[in-house]
Amino acid sequence: MTKEYQIIDHTYDVVVVGAGGAGLRATLGMAAQGLKTASITKVFPTRSHTVAAQGGISAALNNMGDGDNWRFHMYDTVKGSDWLGDQDAIEYMCRNAVPAVIELEHMGVPFSRTDEGKIYQRKFGGHTLNSGESMAQRACSAADKTGHAILHTLYQQSLKHKAQFFIEYFVIDLIMDDEGICRGVVAWNLEDGSLHRFAAHIVVLATGGYGRTYLSCTSAHTCTGDGNGMILRAGLPLQDMEFVQFHPTGIYGAGCLMSEGARGEGGYLTNSEGERFMERYAPHAKDLASRDVVSRAITIELNEGRGVGPLKDYVNLHLEHLDPKVIHERLPGITETARIFAGVDATKEPIPVLPTVHYNMGGVPTNHLAEVVNPTDQNPEKVVPGLMAIGEGACVSVHGANRLGTNSLLDLVVFGRAAAYRAKEVISKEKNVKPLRSQDGDEAIAKLDHLRHSKGSLKTAEIRLNMQRAMQNHCAVFRTQELMEVGVHKIKDIVASYKDIQLSDRSMVWNSDLVEALELENLLQQSLVTINSALNRTESRGAHAREDYPERDDVNWMKHTVARLKEDKVSFTYRPVHLYTLSPEVDVIPPKKRVY
Ligand code: FUM
Repeated sequence: MTKEYQIIDHTYDVVVVGAGGAGLRATLGMAAQGLKTASITKVFPTRSHTVAAQGGISAALNNMGDGDNWRFHMYDTVKGSDWLGDQDAIEYMCRNAVPAVIELEHMGVPFSRTDEGKIYQRKFGGHTLNSGESMAQRACSAADKTGHAILHTLYQQSLKHKAQFFIEYFVIDLIMDDEGICRGVVAWNLEDGSLHRFAAHIVVLATGGYGRTYLSCTSAHTCTGDGNGMILRAGLPLQDMEFVQFHPTGIYGAGCLMSEGARGEGGYLTNSEGERFMERYAPHAKDLASRDVVSRAITIELNEGRGVGPLKDYVNLHLEHLDPKVIHERLPGITETARIFAGVDATKEPIPVLPTVHYNMGGVPTNHLAEVVNPTDQNPEKVVPGLMAIGEGACVSVHGANRLGTNSLLDLVVFGRAAAYRAKEVISKEKNVKPLRSQDGDEAIAKLDHLRHSKGSLKTAEIRLNMQRAMQNHCAVFRTQELMEVGVHKIKDIVASYKDIQLSDRSMVWNSDLVEALELENLLQQSLVTINSALNRTESRGAHAREDYPERDDVNWMKHTVARLKEDKVSFTYRPVHLYTLSPEVDVIPPKKRVY
């Protein structure tokens, strides 16, 4: 098979797959420590989805003089996770937030500033002082384009440190050896059609989330969770895939993100009766309650007939009472988006919004050093040698059942940085990179070849739309056994229909038909795992709201779902939640009822 294709071999200390915030932070960290580092990315780095992150990156800098500290941040994150987050990893993230953000500042990220010249920090949902006493100003922001600012700086820094970029290369699969060690990856250069094998001491997956399994999401079309697909095909598990975050404020119709920063600056939501309904659902935090809480509240308002508009199917986000200067300085991006996608002048009228898929809490299980783990009954923390995962595609798990806004940019940066430190330690003990065997990568190339020549009857877009509709209708904000059982059957049939796919472009150069078909395989496998995991978890926790099991069940379900996929069948084991901290400097936060 491979004889028909020209294959170019490469050897690096580290190969980082994906060049969003996590991938670039890891890449620059590796390269800065002298590791020979390749960054492989299917899109130009500054077009990665991190560019769309708006409201901020959390760190208890206390720049606004509110007395914030990382222990408060840790408490909020554990509570936000609905006690599914691993407390050792959460401690690591919240503590390291402070140096990691200061580093970004020193690298040149153009943060917004206070009058004193410090990084400006705004309020964000679920971020409080002293265990919920009042709202914290913890979100370090660059207007409402924080991801954009960070991504550009990280790319510049990676270039400065001489990391090598393979841009518009699509990674098809991992190369694993017979002992379960990751040895490299197989990739396709979209520009000239050549195929490549990269051997490395360590492969780092930084491939992002899989929002595009759903019909309405804030994620870019490129968010297809390619690394998660590779993991499943390598026989490795994904963790907590049932936890899909709906952002409360996607623009009605288009789904584009209206940053929570809008509510952080004083924006609020109303229903068709003009009522500030969040006061009923979260009397204390109101519009700044955690995302899952606000998304559920909006959905209930719509279901009970208090939606706005002729179809009563959205609510209003109000900014028009704010000083236009604040809107122009701190929220320029969403003001423009509201004008383009909703035809609304946000300084004068409310913006129509609706909960929209935004983030995947689940992904590749890792420890806090960013090493991938493959839990077994004997060892739930068993490390997969040669493989790391970071960013939205990973499940550390710092977000547990529900992520707090601004903890995503933080997760990218903190664990990208952690991966670089760990890689340096591991690689210092290694000898030369083990050469690949001649047959390595054959299976991936055979798959590509088969797909490229497929002559079925269904277009990629048709299968994808069927999947997105089924996920949106059967695995959304509120879930029931009945609804999801129907969904599982639908998704199974849609997965089976992939065998009947039809491609019309047979070329190897910029064949977007083939790229989308490969991405669809990844999406389908993750849909199957997500909806089965959701059906399997018979409790409500964080973003997983079961109408038939409305309560959190810590006795039976305070555990991570570990899901494997074999021949389109999903099987489950479990991994304990880490109810311990890394250091004696902070106490474990014991579970209690989560109210805002
Ligand atoms: O609302 C936002 O600006 C999104 C932030 C986040 O998801 O962290």
